[in-house]
Amino acid sequence: MVDNNFLKANNAKHLWHPMAHPADSLTNYPKIITKAEGVYITDIDGHQLLDAIGGLWNVNLGFSCDEIKQAIAEQLDKLPYYSIFRGTSNEAVIELSYQLKEFFAPDGLSRSFFTSGGSDGVEIALRLARQYHKIRGDAGKVKFLSLKKGYHGTHMGGAAVNGNSHFRMQYEPMLPGCFHIAGPYLYRNPFGATDAKQLAELSVQALKDEIQFQGAETIAAMIMEPILGAGGVIPAHPRFMPMVSKICKEHNILLIADEVITAFGRAGAWSGSRLFGVQPDMMVTAKAITNGYFPFGAVMIADHLAEIFEQDKTGKATISSGYTYSGHPVGAAASLASLRVMQEKQIYKNAKIRGEQLYQGLLSLAKKYPLIGDVRGGYGLMCALELVSDQEKKTPIDKAILAKIHEAIYQAGVMVRISGANIILSPPLIVTKEDIEKILDALEIGLQSQ
Ligand SMILES: Cc1ncc(COP(=O)(O)O)c(C=O)c1O
Repeated sequence: MVDNNFLKANNAKHLWHPMAHPADSLTNYPKIITKAEGVYITDIDGHQLLDAIGGLWNVNLGFSCDEIKQAIAEQLDKLPYYSIFRGTSNEAVIELSYQLKEFFAPDGLSRSFFTSGGSDGVEIALRLARQYHKIRGDAGKVKFLSLKKGYHGTHMGGAAVNGNSHFRMQYEPMLPGCFHIAGPYLYRNPFGATDAKQLAELSVQALKDEIQFQGAETIAAMIMEPILGAGGVIPAHPRFMPMVSKICKEHNILLIADEVITAFGRAGAWSGSRLFGVQPDMMVTAKAITNGYFPFGAVMIADHLAEIFEQDKTGKATISSGYTYSGHPVGAAASLASLRVMQEKQIYKNAKIRGEQLYQGLLSLAKKYPLIGDVRGGYGLMCALELVSDQEKKTPIDKAILAKIHEAIYQAGVMVRISGANIILSPPLIVTKEDIEKILDALEIGLQSQ
C-alpha cells in the first residue's frame, strides 16, 4: 500500500482529470478524498467535510448504505459478470427491469435499455429516436433539438445536443442536424424577459419557430432536462415542460427527458417529468440508480414506442447498439437495492423539505451579500448561487476570487462544486435540518472571506 507522501507527490502527475486543464491540476492539486461515511467525506489530511455535492449528484442515500454494498458483494460472489447481448441474460437484470417498469409506470415508461452511465444513455436515446422514425417509414426525421445551457454528457451525440459551448468548441465539428433553443435561464436571457412564465412562453415560441424553419418532417426528437442541472441549476416555469411536450406531440417529435440528475427523487418528486405532469417518450436515467456505487444507467422507453419496435417484422428494429456493461449483473443488483432503500425511505419527500430549507437560506444570504447575483432552486435538493462582481452589470465574479471563496467554504467543513461563476449544491437526499444549516453557515463564511 502506498503512503500519503507518495500520493501527494504523484497527485495529478500521471492522470488527466475530466473537466480540468492538465496544467491547472498540476498547480492546484486535486483534494485527495480517502474515505466517506454518512454524508461526510474525509480528505488525506484527515479534514472532514459535509459533501454538499453528493458525490456528483449521485450519492443520494449517502456513503454508508450497507444494503447496496451487501447486494454488490453478494452479486460479485454469485455472478460477477455476464453479457446481455443477444442470447443471454441474468437474474438481477430481469428483476430490475420489472421493478423499473413498476417504478416508472406513472411516467408511462415500461421498457429499459441498460447502460454504463448518463452519456451512454443519451447516446442510446438519440439513436432509438432516429430508429423509431425509420421503422415507421419516416426516415427523414433525423434532427435533434435541445436547450441552450442543457447538459447531456460528453459522447459526440450528447455533446452535439449540449447547450454549453465550452463542452463543444474544442471537439467540433459536432454531429450535424442539432439545433438549440434559448431555454429558461431567466437571469441572462436573450429576450429581455423578467418573469419566468413570460420567458417560458417566449422560449416555446422560439421552439415553434425552429420547428417551422427546420420542418417537423426532418426532426426526430427534442431532448431536455426537466430542471437544467450541470448548466447551473436552471429551473423553468412549471408550464414550460408541458408546453414543450404538447408541441412535440403535435409534430410527432419524440420528447427525451434527460433525467440523469432528476430521476429518483432529487427534484422533490420521483422524476422531474412527473413533477411537471409530463409523460416523455424516453427518459435517460443513471447516477442515483445505484447511489453512485456502480457505473450504471437505464434508458426508460414508453409503451407506444416499445410497440413499434416489438411489432416490427422487417428487421429494422434490431437494436444494433449497446455496451459490454449493459445490464451488468453487479450494477443491476446495486440498482435493485438502491430502488428498495429509496422507496422505503420515500426519499423524495426529504429532498423536497430540505431543498426548501436550503433554497430559503440561500435567498436570505442573497439579501446580505451583493456578490450573489442570482439564487436558483426551489425544486428539491438542487440549488445554485451565481456570483457577480457587479450586481447591476451582472459581471461574472473573477475566477481567483471564487477560488478563494471555495477554499474558505472547504476550510469551514463543506464541499461545494464550482462551475463557471456558480456554486452548485446537490447534497445527498438524506441530509438533516442541521446538515443544511451547516452548509448555509459555511457558505456565509465563504462569502464573508471577501
Ligand atoms: C443531465 C445529464 N445528462 C447526462 C449526463 C452524463 O452522465 P455521465 O457523466 O454518467 O456520462 C449528466 C452528468 O452529469 C447529466 O447531468
